[in-house]
Amino acid sequence: MTPDSPQPSPIRLNDYQPPTHLIDQVALTFRLDPQATRVLSEIRFRPNSARPGRHDLRLDGENLTLIVAAVDGHPVTATPDATGLTLPAAMLPDGPFTFTAEVEIAPAANTALEGLYMSNGMYCTQCEAEGFRKITFYPDRPDVMAPFRVRIESDLPVLLSNGNPLGQGEGWAEWHDPWPKPAYLFALVAGDLLAHSAAFTTASGRAVALNIWVRHGDEGRCAYAMDSLIRSMRWDETAYGREYDLDVFNIVAVDDFNMGAMENKGLNIFNSKYVLALPETATDDDFGRIEAIIAHEYFHNWTGNRITCRDWFQLCLKEGLTVFRDQQFTGDMRSHAVKRIEDVLTLRARQFREDGGPLAHPVRPDRYVEINNFYTATVYEKGAEVIGMLKRLVGDADYARALDLYFTRHDGEAATIEDWLAVFQDTTGRDLSQFKRWYTEAGTPRLTVTEDWQADTGLFTLTFAQHNPPTPGQPEKGAKVIPIALGLLNPNGDEVMPTTMLAMTAMTQSFAFQSTADGWQQVVAEGPDRVPGAVSTRPIASILRGFSAPVLLERDTSPEERAFLLAHDTDPFNKWEAGRALAKDVLARMITAGATPGPDWLDALARVAVDDSLDPAFRALALRLPGEDDMAQTLHAAGHVPDPARIHAARRAMGDAVARRLAPHLPGLFDALAEPGPFTPEARAAGRRALRLAALGYLSRVDGGARAEAAFRQADNMTEEVGALACLLDIGRGQAELAAFESRWGADRLVMDKWFTLQLLHAAPEATAQAVERLTAHPAFDMKNPNRFRAVIGALPGNHAGFHHASGDCYRLLADWLLKLDPLNPQTAARMSTAFDSWSRYDADRQGMIRDQLRRILAVPGLSRDLGEMAGRMLG
Ligand code: ARG
Ligand code: ZN
Repeated sequence: MTPDSPQPSPIRLNDYQPPTHLIDQVALTFRLDPQATRVLSEIRFRPNSARPGRHDLRLDGENLTLIVAAVDGHPVTATPDATGLTLPAAMLPDGPFTFTAEVEIAPAANTALEGLYMSNGMYCTQCEAEGFRKITFYPDRPDVMAPFRVRIESDLPVLLSNGNPLGQGEGWAEWHDPWPKPAYLFALVAGDLLAHSAAFTTASGRAVALNIWVRHGDEGRCAYAMDSLIRSMRWDETAYGREYDLDVFNIVAVDDFNMGAMENKGLNIFNSKYVLALPETATDDDFGRIEAIIAHEYFHNWTGNRITCRDWFQLCLKEGLTVFRDQQFTGDMRSHAVKRIEDVLTLRARQFREDGGPLAHPVRPDRYVEINNFYTATVYEKGAEVIGMLKRLVGDADYARALDLYFTRHDGEAATIEDWLAVFQDTTGRDLSQFKRWYTEAGTPRLTVTEDWQADTGLFTLTFAQHNPPTPGQPEKGAKVIPIALGLLNPNGDEVMPTTMLAMTAMTQSFAFQSTADGWQQVVAEGPDRVPGAVSTRPIASILRGFSAPVLLERDTSPEERAFLLAHDTDPFNKWEAGRALAKDVLARMITAGATPGPDWLDALARVAVDDSLDPAFRALALRLPGEDDMAQTLHAAGHVPDPARIHAARRAMGDAVARRLAPHLPGLFDALAEPGPFTPEARAAGRRALRLAALGYLSRVDGGARAEAAFRQADNMTEEVGALACLLDIGRGQAELAAFESRWGADRLVMDKWFTLQLLHAAPEATAQAVERLTAHPAFDMKNPNRFRAVIGALPGNHAGFHHASGDCYRLLADWLLKLDPLNPQTAARMSTAFDSWSRYDADRQGMIRDQLRRILAVPGLSRDLGEMAGRMLG
């Protein structure tokens, strides 16, 4: 994008117009060929009564060679432009008509992995958001829905598309999807594949054939994904009353994929990383992600497919809700407490970061240049948080009633956030216009709280103030509705008021509480209506339990009170949060004032580590030190300029101090947590392994790595193999183990991704640039494979001190690689560029160096719209 070729102008929500024409039926024929695939289309159009008058019909189409087109058999003379084809109103009949076309495309030349492309000899598609226009001329927008009939002609043995199979023969197969769908849910797969199959019977007795299709050799790695699918299908029936609606459900694993997975109707296409797993090749985290993503894509069948989005501004309608549903599912399958803590860690690391920087945008954005740049943590994760808040505010029963209404009212439709909120308003009678700000305003609210205790009246008052910081394009904001889950404890550690949901609606708001005969209760602040005779001492407040709203809670809490909550809070999230806050305070003082960790904190941590009454997974989370990027974000928010080298050194010193304090307990902990018997991926065993590896990490700092070396040699599962290797790399050892790992797993792409990432994450700050150069020169580095690119370049910002090394070498390297990838795969290049979005946190030198790289990117002629938009927004 050169200065004289300005940014393409944005698409705006306010410009939305219903389609001029609707579609009753689509029939497609594919004659597959790597260089010259022919796509024949027959589309039955009808004018849309919502757009009275006669209109041109605009069809989207990119990189298509038009062979021939006709309207009701009359050849079309119009010629396509760079983005599509316009059929002038004058050549269109008044009523319904049939548009036919034949186009040629070259799937083997498609490195962007959008539309129809090839991966390891198989054909596959990715059409969300706007990939179908690279397959044929079509109104490629989600509010045009139609049933599809698809014929595939190819010599490859397995030919798949959406819906139910109609028939197949030598060199062909036909599919029919009776459910009207937008083009972004279209899918086609052809390849030499094998199926791992199972059968499912829905609650109402429909038999469904389930298949997971993989390349030869991978068929033994599908069992966990299949088990996850079956549990997801059952869960959606019991939790939401939603049944599956076709005779078959196919999943295909592909090695080259830009994202995690895609919910195409009846034919989900997955990044193989989120399907294939054996204990020897996949870690507990991998198993957890497979379970969650299989569920996510399956749940889209109702929240996304049966009810889709009117336009791409409404993306959170399907993504926020589906993430919320997959989080509920994982909580039910595993542990709600652990899942909530993990989700909040991700939310803060990714979404709060986004919301606090130049890429901040509302959960429902109102403009975009490239929609692929809006598949963000804000749309997905904050989108899910907003639904969680809605559920907390209306309660479980009304949430269930509202969802039932949503499914019945909008089934088969393309809906909006207004439709979504209307079902809640109609169900509960609540006015949600203020709540809607969560969808339309960006930024993370800061919530401060002050406490007041009147010993004479026994009145305990909490006063909250919310501050909604400005974000790009939104200088001013209104008050948000903030659900604040509150519990009260007495000084003995007993809970005296169970979790109570406060609904904050004003900029500043007080809530008062008094002890009554029935325990502590919320009271009206004015007028002392304390029940005479009730004894009361000042309670201790546990605020924002379960992280009841995505806000930054700012509270002047003493270390003693935090330690008290860590020991006594009945809310597991806040128990963990108290320990987390303590650790961050200690680390912040180490960074900014050269302090050393005091015995109180170390003792509190040690008590959690050895407390066998606590879930091992929870203890493992409590033992995880705050990350360096997290500390940089926190220090910046507190008005400091974070120094990455100091953060790194302080965090290492903190780890050493913890290791010394825990040393007497570590061997016992490590040995006691060994899992007897064969590996099982379920949560209980995974939690024990997580704590065992946390112990091994600290142990390695005091035993020089002897136990980790042995654990690496003896490991019979990838969790422990890679976990032990990470412990060794963390203390500057593990070179022999890295070599052994490579010779053992060199032929396994997914496992080797871990090998690449580990080396980058554990490179010393001054050696990180060299590590990038060495790993990208490795013969197995393949920039065309998104997983491999992400394993190296995408992992770079995870090494905070290395990425931000004062030399600026890694900034330059990242920009180099983004520019190399951009012509091949703009979507992934744009996504990886977000590593630069935190520039404003750092000192003037680093700011200057990052901005120079962003300017350098922006000046490249022919830069993609994707990367151009991102670089432009980050520069502000
Ligand atoms: N709908 C998919 C999911 O969340 C994501 C697809 C995103 N693809 C893209 N090219 N932006 O399950
Ligand atoms: Zn999704």
